[in-house]
Amino acid sequence: MAMCLAVMAQGAVAQQAADAVDPEAAGVGVFESLSPEVSASLALKGAGAPVEASQWMVAAANPHAVQAGADVLAAGGTAADALVAVQVMLGLVEPQSSGLGGGAFLVWYDAERGALTTYDGRETAPLAATPRLFQDATGAPLRFFDAVVGGRSVGTPGTPALLAQVHERYGRHAWADLLEPARKLAAAGFSVSPRLAQLVANDAERLAASDITAEYFLPAGVPVAAGDRLVNLPYAHTLEVLAQQGMGAFYAGDLAKSIVATVQGAKDNPGVLSEVDLAIYRVKERPAVCAAYRAHEVCGMGPPSSGAIAVGQTLGMLQGYDLSAGPSDVTVRRLIGDAARLAFADRGRFVADSDFVPVPVEGMLEPSYLAQRGALLAGDRALEEVSAGSPAFDHALNWADGEAIELPSTSHISIVDSYGNVASMTTTIENGFGSRLMVGGFLLNNELTDFSFRSHREGVPIANRVEPGKRPRSSMSPTIVMKDGAPVIVAGSPGGSRIIGYTTQAIIAMIDWGMDPQQAATLPHAVNRFGTYDLEAGTSAEALADGLGAVGYETNARALTSGLHLIAIGDRLRGGADPRREGIVLGE
Ligand code: DON
Repeated sequence: MAMCLAVMAQGAVAQQAADAVDPEAAGVGVFESLSPEVSASLALKGAGAPVEASQWMVAAANPHAVQAGADVLAAGGTAADALVAVQVMLGLVEPQSSGLGGGAFLVWYDAERGALTTYDGRETAPLAATPRLFQDATGAPLRFFDAVVGGRSVGTPGTPALLAQVHERYGRHAWADLLEPARKLAAAGFSVSPRLAQLVANDAERLAASDITAEYFLPAGVPVAAGDRLVNLPYAHTLEVLAQQGMGAFYAGDLAKSIVATVQGAKDNPGVLSEVDLAIYRVKERPAVCAAYRAHEVCGMGPPSSGAIAVGQTLGMLQGYDLSAGPSDVTVRRLIGDAARLAFADRGRFVADSDFVPVPVEGMLEPSYLAQRGALLAGDRALEEVSAGSPAFDHALNWADGEAIELPSTSHISIVDSYGNVASMTTTIENGFGSRLMVGGFLLNNELTDFSFRSHREGVPIANRVEPGKRPRSSMSPTIVMKDGAPVIVAGSPGGSRIIGYTTQAIIAMIDWGMDPQQAATLPHAVNRFGTYDLEAGTSAEALADGLGAVGYETNARALTSGLHLIAIGDRLRGGADPRREGIVLGE
């Protein structure tokens, strides 16, 4: 069997933490500009040809995880089987980014039915949560890390239920077999990756807030180093229990009790998650949200994610413009950047959990509405003012602009199996190391800080405010691009709300600029969300600064740590892994 190995991140881990700003000191409003996951290589080395294969392919953020998925696929497993194996392995070897304690969104193409669907495994606010969860006694928003670290930010995890549900529906391999490689490696110990070591060192102070977490990542008070062997017996035990009893054992019984005790017993910042919250958790299957772009349909995750709407709106506004001059052209960057700003304005106003607030999804993606918003880009300078538009609403409701803070962890997994099924899943525990609370060998999320900390603005409610049982708005954008009714691109990335820009650029790179998935994953980033143009430091994107400045933008050179895992489906499968992280692609 010939397997191809793609890019392994090369070069030294960036020495500086990407979040050089002190968030404690900086106050709430700046957090969307922070990005604490370091890139694996600032120089973006290692980007060669895409991996090619003919039958199946898997791309994800860690070689152990990709190998686990590849073994399953090579043995005739489905993309759902491989997804389980990849995710439980990622939870061990890339624990800061995703795992059993978090949530995920899956876009799934079912080859047999020729149909797309999505699964919402987003974390959910406890029934005892109130809109004032992240406010102090005076109603002022808490400082970000005061909210994150501890039990307050922990939502009911959804990833375990999602894995179980898609395995039950689409899996062929025995559930227990899929957990076994990760269980074995947890018991034997794995070699700490350079990136994990760097992130632990950067976060040592916050990881020390919980004894169990400190013991694991900072044994005897010293951060684990790259190459250290890390044994995780609690995780091995958790996987053994889940293998024997099924995922139900996560949501009721001893593990559920331990999760609740950890959250409610967190020193300084306890949370309100209860056993009832775990017992009533449900994955929601929702229709894919699609937008037309060129000859394609770009499909992804609707509310509670803003991903597919914002990616689709940005592309929809660009429909009438020629982007063929490429990524170094200032006009092309102005068009993409301002389209994204307009999409972010709508996102801030309208998008939240549609089971709680009506979201005008159809109106926001209506071609005539996007043509009207796109016409705003016809000038030759950066837009001075950007505000939410007036998409067709099926309810007369008005919201104040929301404010939510999102900081990196998160991982994206792209899989095509030999039956033609496709999985595009973005998975997260929100901030790097989530709430910093550990139980059963995995970290608990801080996903609830994706809600707006403010509940109202000048008396007008904010759509994405905290409410019991509600799911926080996300930017995760797992995507499957369709052409003539068949999947042609699988895409997605981590990166907080910059996920939207990273994913959009990858799609434009492949559709408009003719790039292969590896070129698209490696392409330097230029991202605009709220006006300032972020340019990827140390790359050719920095050369855009003068031109963008001349048309009216402020620019900011900074680390832009995407983690794109892309697969193009054509005569052959071609895959690319983001050299900024530690991922690879395998295929056969
Ligand atoms: O759901 C979201 O949008 C965020 N919680 C994702 C966080 C993230 O992507 C961090 N990435 N590096």
